[in-house]
Amino acid sequence: MKTILVTGGAGYIGSHTIIELLQSNFNVISIDNYYNSIPLSYDLIKKITGKDFKKYQFDIAQDKDLELVFQENSIDGIIHFAALKSVPDSVANPIFCYQNNNNALLNIAQLAIKYGIENLVFSSSCSVYGNVAPIDLPVQENTIIRMAESPYAYSKQNGEVFLKSISEISTLKVFALRYFNPVGAHDSGEIGEFPSKHSNNLVPIITQTAIGLRDYMMVFGNDWNTRDGSCVRDYIHVSDIAEAHVLALSKLFQEDFNNKFEIVNLGSGQGVTVFEAIRSFEKMSGVKVNFKVGERRDGDVEAIYSLPNKAKDILGWFAKRDVDTMMDAAWKWQNKLIDLGFNTTKI
Ligand code: NAD
Ligand code: WQD
Repeated sequence: MKTILVTGGAGYIGSHTIIELLQSNFNVISIDNYYNSIPLSYDLIKKITGKDFKKYQFDIAQDKDLELVFQENSIDGIIHFAALKSVPDSVANPIFCYQNNNNALLNIAQLAIKYGIENLVFSSSCSVYGNVAPIDLPVQENTIIRMAESPYAYSKQNGEVFLKSISEISTLKVFALRYFNPVGAHDSGEIGEFPSKHSNNLVPIITQTAIGLRDYMMVFGNDWNTRDGSCVRDYIHVSDIAEAHVLALSKLFQEDFNNKFEIVNLGSGQGVTVFEAIRSFEKMSGVKVNFKVGERRDGDVEAIYSLPNKAKDILGWFAKRDVDTMMDAAWKWQNKLIDLGFNTTKI
């Protein structure tokens, strides 16, 4: 049985990925400092899978004890999720963003090499494409990388550059997975994304409005050059993303797979507007969403969606769950959050 170190395992995508790993018979070790998560995630993972795993609480970017994890365990592969993902926070405090995201990655890469671990999956982001022009759509892995729109996006561009050069001079093999807009929650309805003081993402805001935690939500602009005037994104179910990580690791473990550094888009390939997302939610929940149309949000890109062909070719992966399924899952999770006592928009 192979052992996978998951950094940021208590977080949104990390927790869903641990479920898939445990259900695919991997051993898991998780590290998280709970900067943007709570240990309750781990209890919910155990409830869903019936399995337990080893956890550490460290700041991967700083804590010298990180090496203990590598000394104490025999690790076959690493999935590195741990990062600060809030774009506005990164604009307000770029040093913290770079220190956290880039130092953590370098610490992990250094220890991976020191302890002979050859397989690494890195959480990258569609934000690396920058302010994409209509001519770039759908974005492919070799689409020109434009200027990053935020320190966060720059930390992911940097991360990819670091890993490419590190893989070239070491035994490390890397998949950098560029997620588009992960949303939704586990099919069981038992786990999803917890409210956070750092989140301003569309789908939690829709579900919080529908359940009455917000009086209304704002649609950021209806004058974009899109089919209904609102922005277009490529929403992707968090469990589809999680499953891609299991496939990426399995590929890295394949003896005849020797590619050193591969970038792969994880998107559905479908562009969905903000109004379409709201309508899908209303259809699936039967609840009307009270929204107003406001100004465009600073830094928003008009439209971005992926060409996901490489994921299919190299990993055999494609998005199985559609937007209605994502909205249904998000609504179940919002109701579960209330049951769990989270009757708040931010914690
Ligand atoms: P998340 O904030 O829910 O999870 C990240 C986890 O890492 C959190 O639990 C946090 O406490 C932990 N963490 C952060 N810095 C740490 C450190 N120095 N030491 C230990 N733990 C640390 O975010 P997520 O949505 O699960 O995202 C996971 C990864 O995917 C991140 O790298 C993020 O940048 C990337 N990503 C996310 C999205 C998205 O929209 N959710 C899109 C593209 C890429
Ligand atoms: C989606 C759409 C908003 C809230 C962010 C990061 C990106 C990546 C994914 C990490 C946009 C609109 C939103 C609201 C709205 N994360 N919206 N009203 O901005 O596409 O991407 O998450 O790598 O780096 O920037 O996601 O969910 O914030 O917004 O109208 O109250 O919903 O304008 O068009 P975004 P989002």
